[in-house]
Formats: sequence, C-alpha cells, structure tokens
Amino acid sequence: MRINKVLVAAGLAALVAYGCSNTPDENAGTTTGGGTTAPSTAAPAPTTAAPVAVSTPTVAAAPDLEYDNAKAQSGYADVKKLKNPFAGDLEATKKGAELYQTNCASCHGATGVGDGPAGMALTPKPRNLTVMAEYKLGKGDLGLFRSIKYGSDGTGMTGWADRMKDDESWQVVNYVRTLQK
Ligand code: HEC
Repeated sequence: MRINKVLVAAGLAALVAYGCSNTPDENAGTTTGGGTTAPSTAAPAPTTAAPVAVSTPTVAAAPDLEYDNAKAQSGYADVKKLKNPFAGDLEATKKGAELYQTNCASCHGATGVGDGPAGMALTPKPRNLTVMAEYKLGKGDLGLFRSIKYGSDGTGMTGWADRMKDDESWQVVNYVRTLQK
C-alpha cells in the first residue's frame, strides 16, 4: 500500500514536472508499449484458480502404516499419540487441497508427482507423493502429519510447524492421502 502511494505520488509529481496533459492513469492499469494486458484480465490469484477436485482416499492405509520408519525423526513420539481430527471429512480435504497448492506444489508438483520447479535442484528430490511404494517415513495419517509438521531430517523438506497450524497440516494430510496410489 505504502509503496503504491509513493509510486502514485511520484507519478503525479512527474506529470506536473513535465507539464503532461494526459489524464493521470490511476494505478497504471493499461500498459503502453510492451504489455497489453490490463490487470482486470490478468489470471486470478493462485488460491482462487482451478478448483481442485477432491475425493476420499482410494488406497486404504491404516493411520500408522509404516509409521515406525520415522522412529529416528523429530516429533516421532509426540505424533504417535495423535489422531487425525478430520478423518473422512471432505470439507477439510478441500481446504487441504488449497493449502497443498499454496505450500507444497512448488516442490511436489501440482499433481503430487514431485516435479515442482523449486524441487528440481534438491538432493534428494521431493517425494513423488502419488506412489505409495516410495514413501520412506510412513504412508498413513500419522506418517504424513509428522513429515509435514516436522520435516524429513537431512533433506529439503523442512517442517511446517511454524507456517501451518496443526489443523491445517491435518487438512493437507487428508488431501495427500487422496493422491496416493
Ligand atoms: C522446498 C521443497 C519442498 C516443499 C515446499 C515441500 N516439500 Fe515435502 N519433501 C521435499 C523433499 C526434498 C523431501 C524428501 C524426499 C526424500 O526423502 O527423498 C520431501 C518429503 C516429503 C514427505 C515424506 C515422504 C516420505 O518419504 O515418507 C512428505 C509426506 C512431504 N514431503 C509432503 C509435503 C507437503 C504436504 C508439503 C506442503 C505442506 C511439502 N512436502 C512441502 C521437498 C519439499
């Protein structure tokens, strides 16, 4: 906001200084020269883009499936005591789908196959979340929740504890469960 005001003020000052008689184009909506796209026709913000179809998980997975693989990871014992508060809740899965696109797709890809642009340079590469067989740290609710909240030690997957509330992480868990095959 402040920057915009400063820019507008600077723009007006420039117009006055150059004695330009054009009507000041508030917030520079139409670009002259290179660009032809006015902001009103620009693509909608990512959060309102293409609604994601959500469903219930197609692959059955006990909440603690292979969770013990994460024994040496941060948060293992704390998460072991938890239960997904949104199990089977489609509304939560929808929220999770949006949170996934905002926070995870950059690395794990829009469809979860691990091809996000921000993950290309990482070693190891982001997990292909759609392939059950590739999960290292548990494939059920608990494993997913722990991986999301606390991360995967020694990889580019840092924990989201500071960036997402527990409820949000569980919502993402619901969504990621629907990607697994
Ligand atoms: C900066 C890139 C990056 C972002 C952003 C990111 N991840 Fe990851 N993720 C990784 C990497 C790298 C790994 C580790 C892969 C490995 O261990 O081989 C990983 C691992 C995981 C795993 C563990 C899978 C297993 O092997 O058990 C899960 C689950 C996961 N990510 C989910 C998510 C979710 C959900 C989000 C969004 C909240 C997210 N990630 C955001 C890069 C990222």
